[in-house]
Amino acid sequence: MEPPRTDPALIERLRADLESARYDVEHLAEAFGPMAVAALERENRLPALLAARRSEDPAATLARLLTLGDEVPHALAEAALPSLRVAGATRLGLVVSDGERVRAAVDLRPIDIGGRAWWLTSDQDSTTTSRPVEPDHVLGLGGASRTLAELTVRGPVSRALDLGTGCGVQALALASHTGSVTATDISARALAYARFNAALNGTEIDWREGSMLEPVAGEQFDLVVSNPPFVITPRSGELETYTYRDGGRSGDDLVRDLITSVSSVLAPGGLVQLLGNWEIRRGQKWTERVRAWLDASGLDGWVIQREVLDPAHYAETWLRDGGISVDRDRPEWEAAAEAWLADFEDRRVAGIGFGYVVLRKPWAAGGTRTHRLEELDGPVGPALGERVAESLRVMDLLAGLDDDAVLDLAPVVAADVTEERHHLPGEPDPSVILLRQGGGLGRVVRADTLLAAVVGACDGDLTLGQITGGVAVLLDAPVGDVRASVLPAVRDLLVDGQLTLPGPVTVSA
Ligand SMILES: C[S@@+](CC[C@H](N)C(=O)[O-])C[C@H]1O[C@@H](n2cnc3c(N)ncnc32)[C@H](O)[C@@H]1O
Repeated sequence: MEPPRTDPALIERLRADLESARYDVEHLAEAFGPMAVAALERENRLPALLAARRSEDPAATLARLLTLGDEVPHALAEAALPSLRVAGATRLGLVVSDGERVRAAVDLRPIDIGGRAWWLTSDQDSTTTSRPVEPDHVLGLGGASRTLAELTVRGPVSRALDLGTGCGVQALALASHTGSVTATDISARALAYARFNAALNGTEIDWREGSMLEPVAGEQFDLVVSNPPFVITPRSGELETYTYRDGGRSGDDLVRDLITSVSSVLAPGGLVQLLGNWEIRRGQKWTERVRAWLDASGLDGWVIQREVLDPAHYAETWLRDGGISVDRDRPEWEAAAEAWLADFEDRRVAGIGFGYVVLRKPWAAGGTRTHRLEELDGPVGPALGERVAESLRVMDLLAGLDDDAVLDLAPVVAADVTEERHHLPGEPDPSVILLRQGGGLGRVVRADTLLAAVVGACDGDLTLGQITGGVAVLLDAPVGDVRASVLPAVRDLLVDGQLTLPGPVTVSA
């Protein structure tokens, strides 16, 4: 299927129709109702489809046609597109009509990301078509795309890069807070969608076709985001490959190479945010492999492993993602799953980690790089990008403070932190104390009695020096021991936002 055509005059009419129909997330949620919205999140289109068929609202007709994959009577489609008309939509390559019925050739839906509403055009996915996707499939807003968009720090910067832009979703969101956006992709087809989306949303982006960093070699960016084609795929040749998720490399080489070479396009102080998979080889911790990549990157690095799948689960996940069903396509499914298992076995892979990678280029050369690698598998709160930005700010602040200076700080416990105490039946003292963060990265920290006492006293008035002094007296423990025991954990709690610093921080000389 051809990607849509970027015809400015017709796109102008399309935009007018989408606007006048109120083809937006909020309006469609009202039109369909909460049950249909919840069902759509589980990839069940039926309740939304039934609601759309009953409705005379033009937005519901547009959703029926352009996101739910339903055929719509010609007259109804004409009424929902009064300016563009079905003929204009056909010329743009959005729909196909036989004069009686109209059906979509693409998916065009409203989305909310990066704090703004957009319209996003992409290929229809397999839940809409009930067919496996094509090798040159152009992805819409998937779960990983949304995760990266939420993770992205949305502060104003001068130049941003979206590497592997696909239909341009990250590039669009970047355009609302950066001076200029460059976006790359190896797929000319994906870039055609991306150009169409930029025109439809009235956004200027510098598009470049080519592989990985090649199209931007020698340039410098303040922010690089990427949801790269990180899916580990057997190279045995038996398996269909998909450009949208497979960069054609063996194992996790593509993610390694991106992490270790992205510094070449980063301005001093520049930030990289990407998603990735990494192999966990038998007998190795995931951190060993990923820490070696960070060491080779020359950048400060923060990696959060969110999930680990074993090889069989990994193969199932990506077969399902490509629309290959064990029930409908059993021989193909089994051959592919076998190829996947053999490929992982060749490299003694026990698990595949998925996570977030945040890298920063130091302002000046030299010095030691800080690397933080951790596992967080619980639910995360909204506004993750703001949380990441604040954590990076506090990391910088604390890097310049020795322990005496930290003792001068007067933090306060964040409002979303609760303490849980677990007692063995009949025991007066807790066997486990947990500090649970409600928002942000949803961190749960196991605390001993000392740390719990110190955190409990953080009211924003008392300094950590006063608090640790008081706790030492109370527990009849040497104050030096109390401070040595709690300060590393207090630094982490400050970085993660479980302790916050009210007002500007003043550091005594
Ligand atoms: C997972 S999609 C991400 C799309 C979009 N940025 C998002 O967040 O949803 C990965 C994109 O990388 C592109 N790609 C695949 N191999 C590439 C390569 N070697 N260099 C650059 N882009 C590549 C694919 O065409 C696809 O559009």
